Amino acid sequence: MPLLQWHDTYSVNNELIDGQHKVLFELFGKLYDICMSKENDVAYGSVVDELYAYASDHFRTEQIHMSEMHYPGFQQHLQQHDEFTRKIVELKSVSESDDELCLDLVVHVASWIYDHVIAEDKKFAEYGACER
Ligand SMILES: [Fe+2]
Ligand SMILES: [Fe+2]
Repeated sequence: MPLLQWHDTYSVNNELIDGQHKVLFELFGKLYDICMSKENDVAYGSVVDELYAYASDHFRTEQIHMSEMHYPGFQQHLQQHDEFTRKIVELKSVSESDDELCLDLVVHVASWIYDHVIAEDKKFAEYGACER
């Protein structure tokens, strides 16, 4: 069973953003598998780099979307994206060879993004739906 399982109820009614959330969930699944299977640091480091680049693109997409709809919670949301970016930098600093720390941190950051998607991202989706 993947670390994060996508469900239709997580949708923010935007195909592009939903697709990006699915990829983010998959990337966390990859990281978790790497930590579990004790693969080498190179594999771990390259997936963390991929996650960093993908999350940055995703945040830009969401920020453009929120700004276009004049979402009032934009600044607060932006701060959360910055917090997540700091967490990925933290992931970079962990060596995959430290199995326990690696797993704990991956699960912690994955649960953070999960909470963000189902709570905070949902808020702009609901705002967008009311504004329509
Ligand atoms: Fe998001
Ligand atoms: Fe977000």
